[in-house]
This record gives sequence, structure tokens and C-alpha cells, in this order.
Amino acid sequence: MSKRKAAKWGSVVLSAALAAGILSACGAAGASDEKNQEVKAPAGGETAAAPSPFAADSIQATVEQKDGKNVVTNPDSIHVVANKQRYLPEGYAPSDLVVPKVEFSFGGTEEKSHLRKEAASALEQLFAAAEEEDIKLYAVSGYRSYTRQKAIYANNVATRGEAETAKVSAAPGTSEHQTGLAMDVSALSVNNLLEQSFGETEEGRWLADHAQEYGFIVHYLKGKEAVTGYTYEPWHIRYVGKELAAAVHASGLSLEEYLDESNLKGGS
Ligand code: DAL
Ligand code: ZN
Repeated sequence: MSKRKAAKWGSVVLSAALAAGILSACGAAGASDEKNQEVKAPAGGETAAAPSPFAADSIQATVEQKDGKNVVTNPDSIHVVANKQRYLPEGYAPSDLVVPKVEFSFGGTEEKSHLRKEAASALEQLFAAAEEEDIKLYAVSGYRSYTRQKAIYANNVATRGEAETAKVSAAPGTSEHQTGLAMDVSALSVNNLLEQSFGETEEGRWLADHAQEYGFIVHYLKGKEAVTGYTYEPWHIRYVGKELAAAVHASGLSLEEYLDESNLKGGS
């Protein structure tokens, strides 16, 4: 089966499970804004693909034009897609930032120590599960304000130039870190650095295999550079809630591909 077909099928199976009450449509921490969707039986006893529980969060349904830019309309949703083409609203900052109780690669508490509450709780569960298997993960960089991202981006442009910066660093207003739902994670085996070799370590492999069980996806995958616009970042995990994380992981698609309405509709 092609990845695209597998994704559609995954979506249908997930929808069916939701309709049958096998899965809850709400995130484990109960704080997501996912919408329960009633699944109506088709007339005449036909079988029809159930609507995706993520239809309301499709990338087409969650964007508006403002001052010549695509601006997301759901910045507080755990399903928000911020990327090179989709800006967060001007001045956006999450209102529920907390410091997760996990080990950090640095001492003290800084802006980057924070995550949104639901994501922080999920990160604690992810790190605890890793530790049970003798995998020690460290949190390196979480929430970044617009101002902080602007400074990081400008510094990258000054040292690497615009073209190289665009492959590794989000322009201010477009970073997932500004949503408070992304954390960069590393391990002592790579000196807690954010480098691609982390993906080959025991810790990086464990993260890639298990992050979705706790509601995270590794967003910037190898082979998806043309879609995400960023080079492979095995350290960058993004909280989307358990249901969407499982579906995206199973599909092999990037988050933006999975949330494209043509995929969510399950059409041919
Ligand atoms: N490194 C990721 C793309 C960011 O800057 O948000
Ligand atoms: Zn990151």
C-alpha cells in the first residue's frame, strides 16, 4: 500500500474506532480543543468513510489572509500548523506556559524551559517512560517568544547567510517553538547537542519509536525536507495529542501532509 493510501486508511480506521467508542476523541490530559464529531450512518445501509476527527483542523480550514500573509486561525489548538507558509497571529504567546518536571541540558529556569501545560505533562510522561527503559533524555529548548526567535534567526543569518538559515531556523512568527508545543531533546551520548547524529543514537531511536505514544511527533523527518522546508531534525518533537500523533506516525506523512483536507476527506 502506498503511504498516501495507508494514511487515508489509518484515518478511516481511527475514525471508526472513535465512532465505536474504542478511543476517546479528547486528549489524554483533557485540555485539547479537539471537536467531537457525530458520525451519521449512511442512508440505505451503504457504508461510507467516516469523517476524520481532525477535519476542523485541516490546514485549509485554519488559515486567513492578513496583510498579505497566511495567518493561522487556531494558534491555541494543539493541532495548529505553523510553518514557512503559515504565520502565528502577531503578538501571539500561549497563556498556559509551565516548566515541565524533567531534566534539562542547562541549569536554572529560562524562557526556553517552558511548554504549554498539556505538552509539559506529556513530556514528563515521555521522559519517565524512557527512563524506565534506561534511556536518559534531556530537554534542550522549548518555548521561544517571537522576540527570542527573531534574535536567533538574525544571528543565524549573520553567521550562515539567508539560504542556509532558511533550512534550519524558522523566521520569527513561524516557529513551532512559539506555540509552546515543541521541545528540542537530546542525550549525553551526543553531549546534548542538537545534531543529526542524535537520530542514530539509542536515545534518538527510542524517541522516534515512542514519542507518538505520548502525543508527540518528530516533525522534521528525513525525506520530508521538500514538504517541511527544513532539514532533518531528529531532536525536534512537537506535541499534537495522542490521537493525531498516532495517526501521523502510522501514516509516514508530515503533519502538514496529514492535515491536508484532501487526505482527511479520505477521497480517492
Ligand atoms: N529549527 C526549527 C525549524 C525552528 O527554528 O523552529
Ligand atoms: Zn526545535
